[in-house]
Amino acid sequence: MSDYSPSPEFAKQAVGKAELYDEAAADHEAFWAARAREYVTWSKDFDSTLDWSDAPFAKWFVGGELNVAYNCVDRHVEAGNGDRVAIHFVSANGDDDRDITYAEMQREVAKAANGLASLGVQKGDRVAIYMQMIPETIFAMLACARLGAPHSLVFAGFSADALRTRINDAEAKVVLTSDGQFRKGKAMPLKKAVDEAVEGTAAETVLVVKRTGSEVDWHEGRDQWWHDVVTPAADTHEAQPMDSEHPLFLLYTSGTTGKPKGILHTSGGYLTQCAYTNAVVHDVHPESDVYWCTADIGWVTGHSYIVYGPMALGASQIVFEGTPDSPHQGIFWEIVEKYKVSILYTAPTAIRTFMKWGPEIPAKYDLSSLRVLGSVGEPINPEAWRWYRDHIGGGTTPIVDTWWQTETGAIMNSPLPGVTDLEPGSSQAPIPGIHAEVLDDDGNRLTDPDAVGYLVLTKPWPAMLRGVWKDPQRYKDTYWSRFGPDNYFAGDGAKYDEKGNIWILGRVDDVMNVSGHRLSTAEIESALVHHSKVAEAAVVGATDETTGQAVEAFVILREDAASEADQADEGGALIKELRDHVAKEIGPIAKPRSIMIVSELPKTRSGKIMRRLLKDVAENREVGDVTTLADSSVMDMIQKGMTAPAND
Ligand code: PRX
Repeated sequence: MSDYSPSPEFAKQAVGKAELYDEAAADHEAFWAARAREYVTWSKDFDSTLDWSDAPFAKWFVGGELNVAYNCVDRHVEAGNGDRVAIHFVSANGDDDRDITYAEMQREVAKAANGLASLGVQKGDRVAIYMQMIPETIFAMLACARLGAPHSLVFAGFSADALRTRINDAEAKVVLTSDGQFRKGKAMPLKKAVDEAVEGTAAETVLVVKRTGSEVDWHEGRDQWWHDVVTPAADTHEAQPMDSEHPLFLLYTSGTTGKPKGILHTSGGYLTQCAYTNAVVHDVHPESDVYWCTADIGWVTGHSYIVYGPMALGASQIVFEGTPDSPHQGIFWEIVEKYKVSILYTAPTAIRTFMKWGPEIPAKYDLSSLRVLGSVGEPINPEAWRWYRDHIGGGTTPIVDTWWQTETGAIMNSPLPGVTDLEPGSSQAPIPGIHAEVLDDDGNRLTDPDAVGYLVLTKPWPAMLRGVWKDPQRYKDTYWSRFGPDNYFAGDGAKYDEKGNIWILGRVDDVMNVSGHRLSTAEIESALVHHSKVAEAAVVGATDETTGQAVEAFVILREDAASEADQADEGGALIKELRDHVAKEIGPIAKPRSIMIVSELPKTRSGKIMRRLLKDVAENREVGDVTTLADSSVMDMIQKGMTAPAND
């Protein structure tokens, strides 16, 4: 027994039992075949579980057919649960709160499917969705799934440029958006970015949900209102079965180059693992729980743990349009109290923010309905873990720290809340059915608890990505070359502790994790050098108390701009201009915390920027080994520059 062993009462009622580990160890494929038949309704049963003959291109549940939207909606109505609330929608300003049952969901999804079909959307067409956290976004996603038209969500905080790149790469035929979104009580434009983005792309139609009522520009012939196309459409729609490997969605994520990768997920395997993990990791009991995943639907967590996992289970959940600080810093806890939320899944960055605001805020609310807490997106430091358990979980709830990625599609490493003795700060071990190891540089499993290596997934899993859209080579090179063709390289550093728990140590590539959002150094650098005054840029992720990492940029100006910046006050204006420029090119989340103007960047003799040294500077550490620099005096110059006044 550890301090954090499951209570006997919890263990008794838990969905995920210890036997699952034995079953999975006995026969990997038989285990997953059983999960697929347990959690998914197949229109046609599958013939074989896994085809890995064309590795790393996997096929799961080969020959099987299903409709994902039918599984997430219709079958619950058929089972007599049409009156169960699927979504308690909590609107940002309290002006549109509504409960949507599974029966209503079925009608809304049918209308959206009929509406999209009337716009010419057919099986295989890609649909871009640039929308905030409103029920229509979920209707639209499920309507796409129903039609077999892969959706590509683009987070509504991304810029028009970022949206255009994604529409183009996916060759999306239709773009869905809304007139605007509420942010901290204010209506902000959204369609405006779409107007800019779709120019010159293959998108023929823009379908617009009216949310804020703000004025929008209207392009006759291209733009259509949701309330004209979807609302009057027929509220029944016959779902067609799709092949198990039919593409379900694309989701773009940052990699180590400036070009985001379109991660492809397919139907049967993805749905199986989403539903299974939501059941055994979050311990969802659909008939009694009120579940809340606070992620935005534009990220993978929203896909897997708002839409596909919980809805495949037929769970009741909160969908919140607002942010943790609006209208007040206790809004999360007010929602937990009001709806008696029993399972809460959030990110360490949010937890650290709540810590900063103080425990007296949650203490004002009745949080006794909570029985499971979850964490995702980045390592959770043990201090934040304990705070979460004590101040949100009443000192008793299990916390599931879940490690996974856009690419893995669903949870991979996590404790099971009714089985595992928890270890604060570690996502501990692969769940039943998943094989993860920490390997050294040569691909050997680490044995020494102090040694640091790489997290590698050593067997295929059902929700795995099936490729990078239109780029099979990048798929192979990025994930399946570092440790051989059967081993997936996750890009995370990791180690074991004495008890055999896996600790994730963060990315080993040039990918940053800011507030649980993935950003690539290369993407931000490329945005910076697009600015006419910038000659060169280097970006690093520096440790930040609240957001995990923060973007720190080092910039060399072009000669003419350099003289301008020399004048002290002009420098401040220029830095602001550059930060705003990054926000415009990528989105506000990518805005550097600070930008330092330098005359040189530290480079090796072969010209590679040594970001490690810049990271030392950004984190106020003693600068490491500079012997491989072409010019070792560069770091002295940069450090001297650090004594200049801080940026904004
Ligand atoms: O570095 C790991 C970190 O987030 C990365 C994946 O980011 P993304 O694809 O945006 O998906 C985030 C939501 C699943 C991983 O490579 N990460 C995610 N969860 C954890 C984590 N790091 C430590 N602990 C976690 N629980």
